[in-house]
Amino acid sequence: MGALYNQVADQLQALIADGVYRTGDRLPGVRALSRQFGVSISTVLQAHQTLEARGFLQARERSGYFVRLPARDVPEPTMPEHRTRPLPVSAREMTLDLCADEQKRMVPLATAIPHPDYLPVRQIQQSTIWAARRGLETLDYAFPGKESFRRQIAQRMATLGVPVSPDDVLVTNGAQEAIILALRAVTQAGDIVAVESPSFPGILQALEVVGLRVIEIPTHPSEGMSLEGLQLALEQWPLKACVVVPNHSNPMGARMSDERKQQLVSMLAAANVPLIEDDIYGDLYHSGERPRPAKAFDRSDNVIFCSSFSKTVSPGLRLGWMIPGRHMASARQHKYFVNLATSTIPQLAMAHFLEQGGYDRYLRQARQHYREGIERLRAAVARSFPEGTAVSRPQGGFVLWVQMPAGVSGTGLYRRARQEGINVAPGLMFSTTNKFENCLRLNGGNPWTERIEKAVIRLGALAHELRDQGA
Ligand SMILES: Cc1ncc(COP(=O)(O)O)c(C=O)c1O
Repeated sequence: MGALYNQVADQLQALIADGVYRTGDRLPGVRALSRQFGVSISTVLQAHQTLEARGFLQARERSGYFVRLPARDVPEPTMPEHRTRPLPVSAREMTLDLCADEQKRMVPLATAIPHPDYLPVRQIQQSTIWAARRGLETLDYAFPGKESFRRQIAQRMATLGVPVSPDDVLVTNGAQEAIILALRAVTQAGDIVAVESPSFPGILQALEVVGLRVIEIPTHPSEGMSLEGLQLALEQWPLKACVVVPNHSNPMGARMSDERKQQLVSMLAAANVPLIEDDIYGDLYHSGERPRPAKAFDRSDNVIFCSSFSKTVSPGLRLGWMIPGRHMASARQHKYFVNLATSTIPQLAMAHFLEQGGYDRYLRQARQHYREGIERLRAAVARSFPEGTAVSRPQGGFVLWVQMPAGVSGTGLYRRARQEGINVAPGLMFSTTNKFENCLRLNGGNPWTERIEKAVIRLGALAHELRDQGA
């Protein structure tokens, strides 16, 4: 059972769906609804905001809430075709520098970065000051990671069904380094690695850095990587690793069920192919329980778990970790050779923040923000983009995958939008081929403002123009 205001919102939505309230109708006043549902006024106000986020209500100043046409029910994007040929990875086309300073002034719909308003800024400031006062302890190399931080990670991993000791944890500079270390530990240059398709560009870039070839496995927008596609690849190619984001993948927000995670883990264990799991969005589920990582089903030490606090606490901390299992010695060696250790103060600060117990409280709020942000963004895209557009239904995280009608170029839209100060991530970044040319990824991790809403409406208008021009 969800929060009370969600229950009220669900009941009001059902009344709208049943035609009791029709488009343009004004909902009864807050007091009347509070009496009707037997809830407080603030609960009714929260229910209003939730329905507004879902696209069913529109607030009019000093007049109340009005029913609006709900967004056209857009379908989910389709899965790409199976492809079975390994390709070298070249990120030349993909390295559009979405984080460059110049782009920071644009409407931030491109990067998968949480908005600072949603980050626990005060707590991190306090914990960093606390950490900086630790004196000499802060000045030394922290290899393979500060014990206090690794202990906090071990405690969190235990709650996810992954009982490990602090010694099993290797601290990294974000999840990106963890993925690269995992790849270096289990592959040699030229090896073939399976990834989701579409895939987070950083994973493709990691493959390129290590000199690997890629097999892209079709990925369902809500169920995750196709296990049939993976089985075919396993039968056909000598895969040396498989990189998956089972919980709220980037860019589609797909979540594999426990059953499918179990199948994934056992298929790869049977084929003796290590699974590199990236769980960076695991804590950002929109409803229900924290989904378990695939690592929780690992009985043969075949899953290398990677994660970080970049999506939850702050990307600038550059604080991640991995559980390399039997590959610990190799992962440690690669880490040591490349940068010796991860910076000490962020580890001490994060350990302090976790010890204080504020993280889970903060996460509850953050998850609510991202769920609402995604709902609003999804509704706005559904209203503004051309007929035939499909949009993902993320179950967690804060990015949205938009598949425009065939022939509408995501790269063309990216270029036109940039000229108008709107930043989006075009589909070509998410594959080594151009099969997602008509797609975009949008960031829903921003507070919903008029600027964002106008930008989405403008993107929709540009998509219409591109379609009409046959571009
Ligand atoms: C799926 C996924 N993995 C890894 C990363 C990189 O994480 P970090 O900033 O911790 O290196 C990102 C960031 O966008 C991501 O979306």
